[in-house]
Amino acid sequence: MDRLRIRGGTPLKGHIRAAGAKNAMTKLLVASLLSDKKCTFRNVPNIGDVEITVNLCREIGAEVNWDQEKNVLEITTRELKTSYVPQKYSGSNRIPILMIGALLGRTDQDIIVPTTGGDLIGSRPVDLHVHALQKLGARIEYRGMKREGAYFAQAHHGLKGTIVTLDYPSVGATENTILAAVRAKGTTLIKNSAIEPEIIDLILFLQKLGAHIMVDVDRTICIQGTNKFHEVEHTVLADRNEVASYAMAAIATQGHVFIENAEHLNMIAFLNRLREIGGGFNIKPNGIEFFYDTPLKGGLHVETDVHPGFMTDWQQPFVVLLTQAQGVSVLHETVYENRFGYTQILREMGADIALFSQCLGGKRCRFASCDHHHSLVVKGPTPLSAKEISIPDLRAGFAYVMAALLSKEESIITNVDFLDRGYENLVGKLTSLGANIVRESLSAPKLPLTGKSLESALVS
Ligand code: EPU
Repeated sequence: MDRLRIRGGTPLKGHIRAAGAKNAMTKLLVASLLSDKKCTFRNVPNIGDVEITVNLCREIGAEVNWDQEKNVLEITTRELKTSYVPQKYSGSNRIPILMIGALLGRTDQDIIVPTTGGDLIGSRPVDLHVHALQKLGARIEYRGMKREGAYFAQAHHGLKGTIVTLDYPSVGATENTILAAVRAKGTTLIKNSAIEPEIIDLILFLQKLGAHIMVDVDRTICIQGTNKFHEVEHTVLADRNEVASYAMAAIATQGHVFIENAEHLNMIAFLNRLREIGGGFNIKPNGIEFFYDTPLKGGLHVETDVHPGFMTDWQQPFVVLLTQAQGVSVLHETVYENRFGYTQILREMGADIALFSQCLGGKRCRFASCDHHHSLVVKGPTPLSAKEISIPDLRAGFAYVMAALLSKEESIITNVDFLDRGYENLVGKLTSLGANIVRESLSAPKLPLTGKSLESALVS
């Protein structure tokens, strides 16, 4: 029940270090369950979603040693304690559904996995996961009421390699199919797979673990099944969502921030857009420096897409950045059908944003004939005023933090747990960049908004 008090108007300046990627680390933990060997991970982010996934793995039988000071985590699952994922993980995040792929190869017992959760940014079905695993020979059915049931899965005679063609390059469905294919008999081809950098990181880990796995030029991932595994040491790639988030906050506040560890290769689409809007960046050997250069200019047409396109997770803070740019810009969201809910609060803060259900800007996407608002037009620049805000999901949460950093008055932000799920030490990092931000526990006595020493006492 913590909340943030933010008084903006100060340019963010300084040096931070990017954490390991949430959307890689959580999957790597699940992938470690494929073998009985020790896996050691470095650059592990201290975030809520990793904590949830560690607890989930422990329930299944993993022994975990997590040195949160050093960001090093060791995990070994000599044998499975159970193949039933407890119902309490229902709705926790997107990870439980991936347990099916990992456990099918590890056990011939029945597997039970509760309903998958995650941010409410669209209907987020798991049909592609289920079809792919069925194609590999698993029997899967959903039993129970809509949001309170569970998936029952089994492959009593093992899985068999096959060709899986995904209707859409879903990140989760690709990962689930890869996990299942690692211990299947024979070769599996996943066509039209997702090739996000976090998936490549998973592939690198699996190759070290013993898998024979490759990515072909045409979005086909090829896996030859194996049962022979090795101990692994793996350094998790940097979180490109975190990097882009701080980069945009730095530029919007007219600041200058160096992000150590930021990886150029995974930021190409983002950096191009940043250059178009007038944001400055320098690629350094050990990270990327982002800075306000010239007054920001709009007139952009941005379309979110699967990798190597512009990430849907960059969209929300980018819209806040566009509110500070001179001119009219269009943003077309093609990954999720319902990811503009957060714009209402931005409008109340002063942003000029209009939503449309048409595909604006040329490309017809999967949502062309639906009624969902999935294009927007934003006119800038507009000053943003402070507000009391309740966070609805992780990336919207950062967009609100960024909007609050642009207003000179004090904003109060609640539902901070969403930010804890994905941003390591958010308050500490922003404070080190000079932001006037304080985290308050609602049960603690109310404290005045002062400097950094008070802040560090409050950071949990
Ligand atoms: N989809 C289906 N059927 C499926 C699976 C997906 O229709 O079986 C649809 C979804 O409804 C969505 C689209 O395909 O419209 C993309 O979904 P995808 O499966 O690619 O996403 P995900 O695996 O559920 C991950 C990240 C998201 C990120 C997306 C896209 C994790 C834990 N989550 O979700 O991250 O937006 O890929 O890159 O890896 C975040 O970090 O804030 C976040 C939401």
